[in-house]
Amino acid sequence: MHVRKAAVPALVFLLSALSFPALLPPATAASVSKDLQPSRSPDAAEARIESLIARMTVQEKAGQLSLYGPADIDTPNNPQAGSRNVQQETADVRAGRLTGLFNNAGLEGKRRLQQMAVNESRLGIPLIFGADVIHGFRTMFPMPLAEASSWEPALAERTARAAAIEATADGFRWTFAPMVDVARDARWGRGLEGAGEDAYLSRQFAAARVRGFQGPDLSRPDAMLATPKHFAAYGAAEGGLDYSVSDISERTLREVYLPPFRAALDAGALSIMSAFNEIGGVPSTANPALLTGVLRDEWKFKGFVVSDYTADEELVEHGYAANPREAARQAFMAGTDVSMQSGLYARYLPDLVASGEVPMARLDDAVRRVLRVKQKLGLFDDPMRGLDGPPAAQRTENPEFIALARESARRSIVMLKNERALLPLSKAGTKIALIGPFAEGTVDLMGAWSLSPGQSAPVGVDQGLRAALGADSSVNVVRGSGIESALPGGIDAAVAAARDADVVLLAIGESQKMSGEARSRTDIGLPQAQQDLAEAVAATGKPVVVLLSNGRAMALKGAVRDARAILVTWFLGVQTGNAIADVVFGDFNPSGRLPVSFPQTAGQVPYYYGHKRTGRPSPENAPGTAFRTRYLDATNEALYPFGFGIGYAPVHYDGVELSSERLPLSGTLRVRATVSNTGQREAEEVVQLYIAQRAASVTRPVRELKEFRKVDIAPGASTVVEFALTANDLAFVGRDMKPAVEPGDFDLWVGPSAAGGIRKQFALTRE
Ligand code: BGC
Repeated sequence: MHVRKAAVPALVFLLSALSFPALLPPATAASVSKDLQPSRSPDAAEARIESLIARMTVQEKAGQLSLYGPADIDTPNNPQAGSRNVQQETADVRAGRLTGLFNNAGLEGKRRLQQMAVNESRLGIPLIFGADVIHGFRTMFPMPLAEASSWEPALAERTARAAAIEATADGFRWTFAPMVDVARDARWGRGLEGAGEDAYLSRQFAAARVRGFQGPDLSRPDAMLATPKHFAAYGAAEGGLDYSVSDISERTLREVYLPPFRAALDAGALSIMSAFNEIGGVPSTANPALLTGVLRDEWKFKGFVVSDYTADEELVEHGYAANPREAARQAFMAGTDVSMQSGLYARYLPDLVASGEVPMARLDDAVRRVLRVKQKLGLFDDPMRGLDGPPAAQRTENPEFIALARESARRSIVMLKNERALLPLSKAGTKIALIGPFAEGTVDLMGAWSLSPGQSAPVGVDQGLRAALGADSSVNVVRGSGIESALPGGIDAAVAAARDADVVLLAIGESQKMSGEARSRTDIGLPQAQQDLAEAVAATGKPVVVLLSNGRAMALKGAVRDARAILVTWFLGVQTGNAIADVVFGDFNPSGRLPVSFPQTAGQVPYYYGHKRTGRPSPENAPGTAFRTRYLDATNEALYPFGFGIGYAPVHYDGVELSSERLPLSGTLRVRATVSNTGQREAEEVVQLYIAQRAASVTRPVRELKEFRKVDIAPGASTVVEFALTANDLAFVGRDMKPAVEPGDFDLWVGPSAAGGIRKQFALTRE
C-alpha cells in the first residue's frame, strides 16, 4: 500500500527524483554534495522519502533495515560475528543492502564507503555510521554512573556534547547511548553505564545526555542521533546476571524502568535500542506490547527501533522463535525496525513479504522511519558531512575538553567518610605512601567503553599526586598487590612504606573488566588479595584514605570499611589522577552523591532505597526482632544510602517549611528548606526532596525522590532552597496501569540523602 505516494503531487516527484544521483550519471566524490540538493521544506523532504520508497525493491528496503559492525576490525566489546568480510561489506554497500555500519574506525574508510553508497548504489541512499560513544570519544570522561554522582545533569549534557563533537568529526552521526537502564542490583555489570537505581535521577540524566548528543538541531554537522537503551528493563536481570530474565510486574516496568526512556524520547531521541532480555516470557526484541503498544501507540514515537547486537537472531536461543526466519518475522512485526548484525532482515524479509507474512505497509513504515531520521540528520542534503575533515591523527585533543574531563571527574568523586578531618592533606611536608594496584599505571582508569583509537593515556593516580605536589613531592608508590592476586613480597613492601609514611592512600578496587557487558559478579566485595593488603596496611596504625575504583556499589568490610576516609572514585577517564589529587589536597571540595545505595553486605542485594513496605516492617536498628521483614544477621539499612556524600564543609539542615498542610489537586505546595554551612570553606550541597504516600489504591514505595537542587553555600552562611510540588509530581501508576493521582496523606523529607532528613506531612486534597 502506497497511500502516501498517491497523495503527493506528480511535480514534486519529478523534482525529488532529479535530486538523486541514481538517475544521474555517477557523481564524482567532489561533486556529491552539489548533486544532492538540500531539501527546501518538510513537504519536499517527505516527498523525497516517498519517492525513494516507491522506487526501492524489497531487497533494498530490507537493506535499509540492516546494520552491521565493521568487517575489517575487531570490536572488543562485541562477540565476533565471524560471518562478514570486506568484499561482502563492499558488495552490500554497492547493492544498497545495508543502511549503515557501526564502530567502524577511521574517517578514510567511512568516506570511501559513503562515496560508494551515494555514487554507486542504485538509489544513492547515504549510509549512517553509528558507534558506542558512551562516555567520550577521544577525550574520555568518567563512566556514566560516576558522572551521575555529580547530580548535575547539565554537566552530563556538556560531556555528551563534547563527545558528539569529537565523534562526528570522525564521521559518526549516531551513538548507541545514553544507556538509561535503572540498575538496582549491584551484581549486574552494566549498572555503570547508566545513572543508578532511581527513576527520577535517571530521567534527568537521560534527557540531559540526549540533549547533549543531539545538540540543538539534528541537521548540524556535529549533531549525533541518540539511542536510549536497552528497551526495556534490561537492568532488572534476575540475580544481576547479564542477559537473564527480567521477571517484573507491569507496574514496576512502568514506574521504574520506562520513565527514563520516556524522558529521553521527550528530549528528542529518534532511535531506541531493544533489549536482549525477556520480560514475563516475551523477549523485548519481539515484544509488540512494548515496541508498538507503549512506544508507538502510547508515546507516539516517530523514530526507529534498532535491535541490540544479534538480539533478533537470539530469539531462537530464547526458545521464542522456531528458526531464524521466524525470529526475523517476530522481531520485525513486534516493532524492531532495524536489525543489528545478524543479517536476518536482509536474508528473510523479502521472502516474508512475498509470502504475505509481513505486509508491505509494515516494511514501508520501518523504511520510512529510517529515511526520515537520515533526512533529519541532513545526510541526504550532504552525505559527506563530517567525513571531509582531516584524519583523526591530525586532530589534537581540545584543551577545553580536557579541562571539562577534569571538572567532570572531580565532580564524580563521592566522599563517604572523613573522620577527624583527615582530608584534605596538606601539600607541604606530608609523607604519603600511595599503595595498591591502582596506585600507578594507566590501565583500569578509563572505564569500559573507550574504543576510539588515538586516545591519550589517562593521568595515573601517582602522576596526578606528583603533579599537584610539584618538586617537593614526597610520594612513595608501592603496588602491594595485583587486582585479583597477591604479588610476591607485595604486602611486606606495602607495610614498610606505610610505616615510613604519615598517611596511606590506598588505591584499591575493581578492574575495569569486572563491570560492563557480560561482567556480572556474585561477590560485590573487594578481591581477597586486596582485602589482605588493606588489613596489613591498616595494622600499621597509620591513617588510611581509601581511593576506591569501582563500577558498582560495593560491599565494604574490615579495614576498608573502617578506614578513616573513603573516596569513591569509580572509573574517571582521562583525568583520573588529576581529579583525585584535586580532591585529596583540597583544591576541589568533593560534592558527589551516591546514585546507588551501598549495602552493608552482598546478601542484601538487590538493595535500593525506594523499596515497598510490607505488612511487617522492621523496626529500625533492631536485628533479632521476630516476625519482621529483616535478616537475622543485618539490619535493613544501607551502609551508605542513595544520595549520600560529604564535603569538606559541614552542612546543617536547619528547618523545612511548607506553604500549607494541604495541597489541592490544582494547586502548588511550596517547600522551603534552610540549609547552613557551618564550616570554614565554600560548600556544595545536594538538597534532596523525597515523598511517600501513606495509603493509596496500590502500595507506594517508602520514599521517592521528587526533586533536588545543588547549591553553593558560603562559609558560615545559610541558604533557602525552594521546591514547588504539584499533584502531577505525586502521580503513580494506578490499578488500570494509567497515571493516577489520589488524595491522601503524604510524608515529605528534605535532607542530604535517602535516609534521614527533616520530615513534614501534608495532605493532597480535592479542593
Ligand atoms: C550491547 C549494546 C551495544 C551493542 C553494539 C551490545 O552487545 O548490549 O549496548 O550498543 O553491543 O556494540
